[in-house]
Amino acid sequence: MLSLAKIASAHDIRHPTWSVADVHGQYSYTNPHADLYLYLSQWSDMESYLNVGYSRPWQYHLHTNSHLRLINRLADGLLSLHAASPHSADRRLLDVASGRGGAAIHAHRRYGLEVVGVDITPYNAHRATHNAHQKNAGAQVHFGMGSADRLPLADNSFSLAWSIESPAHFADKPAFLKEVSRILKPGGVFTFADLLVVDEVALAHPQIYQEFLQMWDVPYLETFASYHHALAESGFELRRSEIVTRYNLDILNQDCLIFLGLSKPKWLYQTYKRYLYWAKGANLDNVYQHVLASYRALQLGMIDYGLFWAVRKI
Ligand SMILES: C[S@@+](CC[C@H](N)C(=O)[O-])C[C@H]1O[C@@H](n2cnc3c(N)ncnc32)[C@H](O)[C@@H]1O
Repeated sequence: MLSLAKIASAHDIRHPTWSVADVHGQYSYTNPHADLYLYLSQWSDMESYLNVGYSRPWQYHLHTNSHLRLINRLADGLLSLHAASPHSADRRLLDVASGRGGAAIHAHRRYGLEVVGVDITPYNAHRATHNAHQKNAGAQVHFGMGSADRLPLADNSFSLAWSIESPAHFADKPAFLKEVSRILKPGGVFTFADLLVVDEVALAHPQIYQEFLQMWDVPYLETFASYHHALAESGFELRRSEIVTRYNLDILNQDCLIFLGLSKPKWLYQTYKRYLYWAKGANLDNVYQHVLASYRALQLGMIDYGLFWAVRKI
């Protein structure tokens, strides 16, 4: 149980036992939370993309294209800032927490960028390298291991950087912003997407919030406002930020509701459970727990999804 007496903001509510091993487990198929990705892989290429995507009301969401729409949205904003920067001829992008490489490879194929991706999970770094070679991008897109709060890269070495839906997992998000600021040249541009906590809702339902953090192996979340503050403290000038919850998390919320409804008839649940195990090796009970914890938080409006574009101050 949480002691409510000490809680002043959602920042004080944390995953009580979080460690980076949880993150490795989720992304290496060695903890039960990974079963959600196996379930989702029925519709979407989860061996390349690990973000919730972005879709307008008329667009089908549970699909690889929704991941690409989110990536394009971030990239378009980033590259329009880059075009006006003193480093516009530089085509090298740093992808912090590059996952299985889908976004980096797409950045090369669609925008002609050379990409260096860094990730903390060995499975993902290897998978990303394999994917880059399979897509004939191995010479221009490279992946290595490293942690977002201590990146193995030189000061002032990039003019473009992004991090897509990964900071949620970082234990110290201000330290990550300072690292990106260190690596970027003055005038360099940066974009990121992340889950955000809505302070007052989490404070009203701390147990539901904590279950959400535990299910997603997330130590804590920033708010929209705390990210603005942390960006300024890290030497960035914010150019644009937006909350796009209705284009992804609200859709996820509806999908959770449908899943929970379809799980009610026992015969259907048991039949599908056998099928999912046979087809994907995933345990439907784990997926159910994940969906339930997510739905409880999302339907309260506790979690938002933010996009940020910023320039490293000169
Ligand atoms: C939700 S996935 C997103 C991956 C990718 N950006 C995408 O959009 O497909 C989160 C990624 O963050 C990585 N990650 C988590 N904590 C990290 C850290 N401290 N440093 C670097 N990578 C980390 C995980 O291994 C995982 O690949």
